[in-house]
Amino acid sequence: MSEAAKREQWSGRLGFILAASGSAVGLGNLWKFPYITWENKGGAFVLVYLACIAVIGLPVMISEILIGRRTSQSAVPAFRALGTPRWAFVGWMGVITGVLILAFYSVIAGWSLRSFVQCVGWSINGYEAPTGEAFGAFLAAGGSQVGLGATFLALTAVIVVRGISGGIERATKILMPVLLLIMLYLAFTAMTLDGFGDAIAFLFRPSFSEIGKAGILEALGHAFFTLSLGMGAMITYGSYVQKKESIVGISLTVAILDTVIAIVACVIMFSIIFTVPSLRETMEHGGGGSTVGMLFVTLPNLFYTAMPGGVVIGPLFYVLVAFAALSSTISLLEVVVATLVDRFSWTRIKATAVATGTIFFFSIGCALSLGASEFLSNFRLFGAEPGGLNKVVAADKAGVLAWFDHVTANWLLPLGGLFITIYVGWVLMSKEAEEELDVGGSTPRWAWTAWRFAVRFLAPLAIGWIVFEVIRGGDFS
Ligand code: PFF
Repeated sequence: MSEAAKREQWSGRLGFILAASGSAVGLGNLWKFPYITWENKGGAFVLVYLACIAVIGLPVMISEILIGRRTSQSAVPAFRALGTPRWAFVGWMGVITGVLILAFYSVIAGWSLRSFVQCVGWSINGYEAPTGEAFGAFLAAGGSQVGLGATFLALTAVIVVRGISGGIERATKILMPVLLLIMLYLAFTAMTLDGFGDAIAFLFRPSFSEIGKAGILEALGHAFFTLSLGMGAMITYGSYVQKKESIVGISLTVAILDTVIAIVACVIMFSIIFTVPSLRETMEHGGGGSTVGMLFVTLPNLFYTAMPGGVVIGPLFYVLVAFAALSSTISLLEVVVATLVDRFSWTRIKATAVATGTIFFFSIGCALSLGASEFLSNFRLFGAEPGGLNKVVAADKAGVLAWFDHVTANWLLPLGGLFITIYVGWVLMSKEAEEELDVGGSTPRWAWTAWRFAVRFLAPLAIGWIVFEVIRGGDFS
């Protein structure tokens, strides 16, 4: 316990909020949410997503931070510290999930480094609209994919090895406010575009016939992914939170910030798509590549054709995408490193080296699965036969990167979240939770009652029902 006593802490409320929202706001908001919203045809999907954030995401976030702060331990030892070592498997599941997510996430984060360099070139030499094929060729260049991913992992490791308050907190205190300002500027510019009205209608006019069970599972999975839930990241970050902070207050702030940024990212991107007719055409009829590449292919159009000051904003924007991604990769690596340090008393340097090396190994598989290696690009763990198990598990996704993405976000995170809610709702003593949440003090009674109801019934039943429906062979249109 002397370890816990000298454990580092966030300097205060703002330090935690910026670090935790740095973890939450990342490629999930800027890259993934816009393209899955596009693929799921907007409106109804957005509503389901918002419901998942409010009814499941927020209660799970409160639960995770509560476990972390109560024990001052990362996930695996936290369950031991609470006298329930059998639940440590939830923590281990989180560590595995973290390794898999970071493996593919670092590759995509690497794309932002390339976009940055590209934008600098355009700003200096003039803009030349890239073709869809150019992005495909970039993806298939195995060497650059591995190299960029490795660069990103190395950057992450350099920060994580330095610990909590000095590195992570100091960095996110600068990065997040700047990110917000740039987003705000882009949003105002989007409002002046012709496509703005169509973008809003696409996002907020629900058409429920267009969402199937697979879409609902995707919305649920993304709610976990975007809030960094279900794998112990918030348990780990929560373990550095000071006792005087209100867990409900800080969770609410992080969830709202994350949601607003995701929606604004969509408004910006869809306004551009609906403004430029040729772009709209490619997006609607182009293959999956153009939606996946939305952030990296579509956006430069706005910077260089429709925006005053685009030559400056273009490169700057990708620096910020990289920073948003970096504040998320830091938290992913921190989950693995903190577990090794807390559980096996490894030094931080050793833990960081071993974790980063392992993750790099998996990231090579992801990097080469975008066209460079035919075998890895067609990887389906459960076979390729139509209607087979891979269809149920991975919605027929092929390729290591797409497969890791789908399986972690849509299965491992919701399952992790399910275990965490069952644990907090049914295993952890109600009195402990009540005390940690400061019920009657910073947490009003009604909020406590609502949260209790959500973690005991709503969240586990909703997650369980969605998973059950999908396993039973829901539609996978
Ligand atoms: N929340 C991050 C994003 O939206 O990009 C991704 C993520 C980070 C997921 C950390 C899980 C995690 F533990």
